Amino acid sequence: MARSLRAAITGIGASAPEKVMTNFDFEKFLDTSDEWITQRTGIKERRVVSDGESTVSLAVEASRGAITQAGLHAKDLDLIICATVTPDMILPASACFIQTALGAGDIPAFDISAACSGFLYGLAVGSQFIETGRYKRVLVIGADALTRFADLTDRSSCVLFGDGAGAVVLEPTEDRDRGIRYNVMHTDGAGWDYIHVPAGGSRLPATHETVDQRLHFVKMRGRDVYKFAVEKMRWLLGDCMEKCHLTVDDVDMVIPHQVNVRIIESAAGKFHFPMEKVYINIDRYGNTSGASIPLAMEEAQRLGKIGPGSLLLLVAFGAGLTWAGTVVRL
Ligand code: ACO
Repeated sequence: MARSLRAAITGIGASAPEKVMTNFDFEKFLDTSDEWITQRTGIKERRVVSDGESTVSLAVEASRGAITQAGLHAKDLDLIICATVTPDMILPASACFIQTALGAGDIPAFDISAACSGFLYGLAVGSQFIETGRYKRVLVIGADALTRFADLTDRSSCVLFGDGAGAVVLEPTEDRDRGIRYNVMHTDGAGWDYIHVPAGGSRLPATHETVDQRLHFVKMRGRDVYKFAVEKMRWLLGDCMEKCHLTVDDVDMVIPHQVNVRIIESAAGKFHFPMEKVYINIDRYGNTSGASIPLAMEEAQRLGKIGPGSLLLLVAFGAGLTWAGTVVRL
């Protein structure tokens, strides 16, 4: 029966640009320091796209990794969902570029825009198609190249961002212990101006003035985002555990959106999660938005910190404002 199906993650892939930008590199042109960035955020370095690289090129590489690990070929896919807020172009969707680059069939492919929560929104949407029996092989990607939209004259935001992509393949399982058990999504659009790019959309199209005024870059109310992030990460952890009747002992790994190490520690501390159960790689990647969680999942898997049977709690929040959580057993 279709209703007893669950979406299992059968392949995970990731990709990050080769080029590394350290905090010391920022010191050369900004009034900032490695000490400040490390203490306030936990970030030491981030990966940055070079000419010829983009959200799509990263996404394609991550997708190939996920498809290979699942033991599939691109032609086997039924649906591609790409979560990104830094698409290669306003139109068409990045998922269309990914579909053709992978050599997938003429299957549906579309983008989701939910910023740092985007990958978890994508998992929620993709898993519905599996659970209803409509599709059998769904590729969900989180990919962003936020450094393309970072204002290098704004020290309070540009030091936070990095580029990357992660992807998973979802397939049906009848094993009730495996797969995506729970997901939750929320939005509060009243907080749209906490993190936004003012120009380049239909409200304020590109002009010489918008370029001169640097309105095509990310604007962020850092302190407000910080408060929102701590509150929502705590809420999400509590909600996921309560809805799935989990204790800290039941959870093998919390993989949070890599936003700021202080935010992560503060939220995990509320529930007394030991830090070895909280995956952190922000020190090497910064905030990669939609890519952050699948990038961390791939690394955790490669390092043997998670594997078949691991119970994961995934939590994210971002521009929108949006926030989302997923409970999944690999
Ligand atoms: N280097 C040195 N000094 C800095 C820097 C920097 N890079 N950035 C800000 N400062 C200064 C400020 O100007 C301020 O100086 P002042 O006291 O003289 O005015 C001082 O440091 C303290 O600034 P705060 O903003 O209070 O610093 P805070 O401890 O809050 O840290 C930070 C700032 C890191 C931005 C923090 O608020 C944060 O992480 N917020 C969350 C932001 C975030 O993650 N946004 C992404 C959301 S996800 C998405 O959807 C893209």
